[in-house]
Amino acid sequence: MKTSTEIRNGYLQFFHSKGLPVIASSSLIPHSDPTLLFTSAGMVQFKANFLGIDDSLKNATTCQKCVRTTDIDSVGFTERHLTFFEMLGNFSFGDYFKKEAIDWAWEYLTKTLGLSPDRLYVSIYKGGIAPRDEEAYNLWLKYVPKERIFELGEADNFWTMGSTGPCGPCSEIYYDFGDKGCKNPHCDITCDCGRFVEIWNIVFESYNRQEDGTFKPLPHNNIDTGMGLERLCMAMQNAKNVFETDLFTPLINRAKQDLHITGNTKEEVSALRIIADHVRSSSFLIAEGILPSNEGRGYILRRLIRRAARYAKLMGNDKPYLYTLVPVVKDIFAGLYPEIDKNLSHIQDVLKLEESTFLKTLVNGEEKLSALLSSCGNTLPGEEAFHLHETYGFPLELTKEIAAAKGITVEEKGYETAKSAAQAKSRSYADEFTKDKAYMMQHVETHNPATVFTGYDTLTDEGTVLMLLNDKFELTDEVNGAGYAVFDRTPFYAESGGQVGDKGIILADGKEIARVDDVQKPISKVFLHKFSGLLKKDQKVTLAVNAALRKRCMANHSAIHLVNAALRQVFGPSVHQSGSYVSPERFRFDYTLSKTPTAEELNTAWKIANQAAEDALPVACEVRPLADAEKLGAVTLLGETYADPARFVLMGGSFAQPEQKYSLELCAGTHVKNTADVMTVLVLKEGSVSAGVRRVEGVAGYAALDYLKNVNRQAEELSVRLEVPSKDVFVRVNAIADELKEVKKRYLQFREKTLAAGGINEMSFTLKNGTVLVVRNAEGAEPKELRNIADTIAQKYKQALIIVTCDKEGKRAFVVKTAGKLPNTDAAAVAKQIAADLNGRAGGRADFAQGGGEAKRPWQEFIDGLKGSL
Ligand code: ALA
Repeated sequence: MKTSTEIRNGYLQFFHSKGLPVIASSSLIPHSDPTLLFTSAGMVQFKANFLGIDDSLKNATTCQKCVRTTDIDSVGFTERHLTFFEMLGNFSFGDYFKKEAIDWAWEYLTKTLGLSPDRLYVSIYKGGIAPRDEEAYNLWLKYVPKERIFELGEADNFWTMGSTGPCGPCSEIYYDFGDKGCKNPHCDITCDCGRFVEIWNIVFESYNRQEDGTFKPLPHNNIDTGMGLERLCMAMQNAKNVFETDLFTPLINRAKQDLHITGNTKEEVSALRIIADHVRSSSFLIAEGILPSNEGRGYILRRLIRRAARYAKLMGNDKPYLYTLVPVVKDIFAGLYPEIDKNLSHIQDVLKLEESTFLKTLVNGEEKLSALLSSCGNTLPGEEAFHLHETYGFPLELTKEIAAAKGITVEEKGYETAKSAAQAKSRSYADEFTKDKAYMMQHVETHNPATVFTGYDTLTDEGTVLMLLNDKFELTDEVNGAGYAVFDRTPFYAESGGQVGDKGIILADGKEIARVDDVQKPISKVFLHKFSGLLKKDQKVTLAVNAALRKRCMANHSAIHLVNAALRQVFGPSVHQSGSYVSPERFRFDYTLSKTPTAEELNTAWKIANQAAEDALPVACEVRPLADAEKLGAVTLLGETYADPARFVLMGGSFAQPEQKYSLELCAGTHVKNTADVMTVLVLKEGSVSAGVRRVEGVAGYAALDYLKNVNRQAEELSVRLEVPSKDVFVRVNAIADELKEVKKRYLQFREKTLAAGGINEMSFTLKNGTVLVVRNAEGAEPKELRNIADTIAQKYKQALIIVTCDKEGKRAFVVKTAGKLPNTDAAAVAKQIAADLNGRAGGRADFAQGGGEAKRPWQEFIDGLKGSL
């Protein structure tokens, strides 16, 4: 039996032998395509090649890691749905076309793999929005009898990558897994009984779909194919479903063992599949730097982890578990995806933390559900059921089951409405970009050469206006006011890697003609300058970056590298940058850490970073082969795909002696030439932002100086106000704060005494059992003051039952206290009685209790009622 590794390698070798270069899988985060949440097909990394923007490749073959999340809820309940899968592809960019694509596919399946031709079926596009695919039909006839060639419509045989972009008719190849006892007399490839499984899709991309739905021809004909490795393994390994292939069995078997289940019941089968699939997808997503969160990619990751954790819990597991399976994932993909090997412990940390947080909320969820069920009548609102699903991971089915046991039904329509709203939220990430603006950005990217960035070496340069957009994002030849400009070259840094875009001015003939407020790189290679002023297309201008702002940006950016290296020295290499922000005013650096650091550890880190600034280390930025990253021990961002060659930023040591370095990162940002220019790393704040992620905020360089000057100015103003020399301000403010605290305390004591002083608002009676009852209406008091007031009153009596109340915003708060020994009186019982009268709640002990309810009756009436009942 061929293993998945042999099949994967064999596929790439086969196409390599046809002259196609083997290209590595791209990242799961489609960095160059903001319209996609995840890389969902092999062609994503080749979009520019298909469009003819990039002509560096004629063809290629890949095994691409993909994530598709539209069907998360189906995974586990079908034979072949997965969230993470590998797509085997071969691609032609104006090179080979239908004939070769079909011949090679047939040769590979029937000759190389030896699959029986009798089990293969194909489909072609029958025509509709584009003509019938006659050519493909005739090509297939060479291999497949016509009864096994199906003609299908757009839904099956016209592939589009999104609402716009490359598309075209396709042919699918199906494998016949044998009769499954299907009762459908017309069971064929369109039947969903599972007998016929689509294994390969060959797209003949000839069109570029426009915003308005019309097609334009692509500059050349392309081939885009995709074959699910898992499905191919299913056919090659005689497996009944993808989960029985060697890509899953090690995970399923381990989970069976760990969870002590046989995997023989329907519930167990689903749970095992869900755990196996979601652990794979979560591991790959975390390896790319995604962390669980409540939006975008992080939200999907959170759903995956929580769904799998819940199924593990249903199987009787109540401790974090999924993380223990990551080494199994690593072994399945041994040597294929270095990101898994390299980040094993990080993946495990993230999973474990999310699992334990989730397991805690699950307990709360169960409590919340039972509270909801006891107060919802016969129907549980769908919105509540969905909220339980989102917050606690309770699926509708479970909620329905628990509700049904109490004779309660769940209102499903409301559930669906709430679900659609939430889905819109996770989609909105992509939707933001699908508007006209995104289209124009693509246009800007496609119709301009890559902007030459000269700002590492100079802050002033000459450039020519290549393209202008007005403030409505429309193309124009002249802007007088606000707009966007593309130049052939620029010293302005475009926002990326957390560093904001430069600001500055544009000059013509030595005179300022426009102001640049921001620079962005909307897609990847073209810089868009947001400006206001007067600019004309083809105009030659001088571009001048605001040097003071840039200088501050550089110091703040270099400070981040100092902090990153310092944190790694203190906490080890599992610290990863998970986000950053650099502006002229400040820096922010997010990092992963799976424990709470002590103040001492953090201080050590800040000391290390500051020492590096004081040591005046040289900073060298060099463009070198990407392979050097590993060799030289450079820090890279999880999930980031770097250009090759890439830019290395080295602090301390030299490239010849990298072992003497203080820090080495792959980074395209702008940096100081020597760490002395960082001057000081002033950390203003450090704290947790979410589970496993912490944030450092601070200032460095001239920005730190600005900050300190401002602090000094405030101190001076205070010194005038406090009439002390500025060096004594600190001591004086401390003394004032202490004084204030004391004054507040005394004021409160005074106030409570006054409130407790009695008068018309206090009444005392002797009850039937001889106890003295003192009732006090502490008008104007806060509920939290009642206890102290009661204590003060109690000091006046040897034996008494004291009740103190106050009203606030329609609510009545009260305390009940016994002074001295009152063996027959229970304060808690009295409090409960009062609460019942006020439709409220109360609790406490025999000597003291408190409660609250509605301020139902005027005080006098309330007292009379009390008197009569006690
Ligand atoms: N891009 C095509 C698909 O995903 C091959 O099916």
